[in-house]
Amino acid sequence: MIKLHVFILIIPPPLLCFLLITLPLHVISQNVDAERSILLHLKQQLGNPPSLQSWNSSSSPCDWPEITCTHNTVTKISLNGKSITHKIPARICDLKNLTVLDVSNNYIPGEFPDILNCSKLEYLLLLQNYFVGPIPADIDRLSRLRYLDLTANNFSGDIPPAIGRLRELFYLFLVQNEFNGTWPTEIGNLENLEQLAMTYNDKFRPSALPKEFGALKKLKYL
Ligand SMILES: *[C@@H]1O[C@H](CO)[C@@H](O)[C@H](O)[C@H]1NC(C)=O
Ligand SMILES: *[C@@H]1O[C@H](CO)[C@@H](O)[C@H](O)[C@H]1NC(C)=O
Ligand SMILES: *[C@@H]1O[C@H](CO)[C@@H](O)[C@H](O)[C@H]1NC(C)=O
Ligand SMILES: *[C@@H]1O[C@H](CO)[C@@H](O)[C@H](O)[C@H]1NC(C)=O
Repeated sequence: MIKLHVFILIIPPPLLCFLLITLPLHVISQNVDAERSILLHLKQQLGNPPSLQSWNSSSSPCDWPEITCTHNTVTKISLNGKSITHKIPARICDLKNLTVLDVSNNYIPGEFPDILNCSKLEYLLLLQNYFVGPIPADIDRLSRLRYLDLTANNFSGDIPPAIGRLRELFYLFLVQNEFNGTWPTEIGNLENLEQLAMTYNDKFRPSALPKEFGALKKLKYL
C-alpha cells in the first residue's frame, strides 16, 4: 500500500489522468478488435453471404445490425433469415461472452453444430434449417442453456438423457423433426421447464406419456 502511494505521487498528475483514462479504453478496443477478427473469420467460413456486407474491418462489430454487445463484448448473434448455406464453425465459441445464437430460417446443413464450447450460451435457435442426425449426448455441456428451439429440421434418434441435466431450461421446442427413438425419464428433472412442444414427430416410438412429466411443476404449455 505504502509503495503504491509513493508510486502514484511521483507520477505528474496530468500523466496520471492520461493513464487512468486511456488504459481501460485500450483494453476495451483490444477486446473489440479481437472479437471483430473472430466474426470476420466466421463470415468467411459462412461463405461471405451478401446479407452480411456490413461486417467489415473498418467498423465496430457492436454497430453491425446482426450483433448485440453488452459492455463492449459480443453477447448476441442474430442471423435469422440470412440465406446461410454453410455450417456454423466451432470458432464461434471464441466469442467468450456469447449468450444468444439465433440462426433460424436458413439452409444450414449437417449435424448439430459444434458449439458445445460456448459455455455462456443461454438461447439457441436452430429452427427451420437442414440439420440432421442426433442431439449430442453431451448437450449438457451448455450448462446455462435456458431456451432451445430445434423446430422444423430433420434431427433424428433419441432425446438424450443429458437434456434432463439442463437445469435452467424453460423452453424446449422439438417440433417437426425425424426423432425415431425414445424420451428419457430425466425430462422430469427439468424443474424450470415452462414450455414443451414436440408435435409433428410421427416417427417417435409409440409410448404412454412418461409419468415423469408429472414432476414438471412449472409447465404451462404442452
Ligand atoms: C463498413 O460497414 C459500415 C457499416 O457497418 C459501412 O457504413 C461502411 O461503408 C463499410 N465500409 C466499407 C469500406 O465497406
Ligand atoms: C467478457 O465479459 C467480461 C465481463 O463483462 C469481460 O471482462 C471480458 O473482457 C469479456 N471477454 C471478451 C473476450 O471480451
Ligand atoms: C473446446 O474446448 C476445449 C478446451 O478448451 C478444446 O480442447 C477443444 O479443442 C475445443 N473444441 C472445439 C471444437 O473448439
Ligand atoms: C427431411 O426429411 C423429409 C422426410 O423424410 C424429407 O422429405 C426432406 O427432404 C428432408 N429435408 C432435409 C432438409 O433433409
